[in-house]
Amino acid sequence: MDENPRFFDLVGSVRAMRRLRPDPVPDELLFKVLNAGVQAPSGMNTQPWSFLVIRKPEEKQWFAEHYKAAVESRLGAFDLKDEDDSPMARQMRALHYQMNHMQDFPLLLVVCGLRDWPFKVPKAERVGLAPPNFGAIYPCVQNILLACRALGLGAALTTMHQVFEAELMERFEIPVEYGVVVTIPIGYPLGHFGPVTRKPAEKVTYFDRWGQGAS
Ligand SMILES: Cc1cc2nc3c(=O)[nH]c(=O)nc-3n(C[C@H](O)[C@H](O)[C@H](O)COP(=O)(O)O)c2cc1C
Repeated sequence: MDENPRFFDLVGSVRAMRRLRPDPVPDELLFKVLNAGVQAPSGMNTQPWSFLVIRKPEEKQWFAEHYKAAVESRLGAFDLKDEDDSPMARQMRALHYQMNHMQDFPLLLVVCGLRDWPFKVPKAERVGLAPPNFGAIYPCVQNILLACRALGLGAALTTMHQVFEAELMERFEIPVEYGVVVTIPIGYPLGHFGPVTRKPAEKVTYFDRWGQGAS
């Protein structure tokens, strides 16, 4: 088999890196990442993605303030006990760090998707704005995360912008034909790319009938 073992190491260590250095990321690397993103498949090859890169300090500050307010409105005050080393506590500490340092990260990548009604929504029910086609954007997002990892850049998929999406669209003059799907802070990581913790596929895969294992 013509297997590339490096790929499997890589895909198993694409962690949400929420602690990033402020050092700038060269445009050449940014476009390497984004060009990996746009290799993704999309229905009928429509390629419905567009990117907005926020990197001016005052624009990052605006985003950071809104992001922090959004997190606090949804997750409440953080009660982080030093002695708690559970995975959830560690994740909350990382979220807290990210929320308080968003303005210091070099790039905030806003991934936008063309609005498009899902097939299953009947014509008569297509009222108002369609959501962006999330299914067509997430493969691109995953390619971006993989490319960041391959280049030694840290990145974390975030969706809290949903709380202030209208203000975000207005501030950055994003046209109404698009919706914001995810925002990904990108920079050199402060931590290490450890392995992700996931259930093995064998535990979530059935054959021929739901609940039936391979015999
Ligand atoms: C749909 C989706 C939404 C997510 N939203 C956020 C988010 O708002 N903020 C964040 O820090 N991480 C977010 N994540 C990242 C997950 O929290 C993270 O991938 C998961 O906890 C596993 O952690 P790991 O990648 O470090 O192993 C999101 C991931 C997905 C797929």
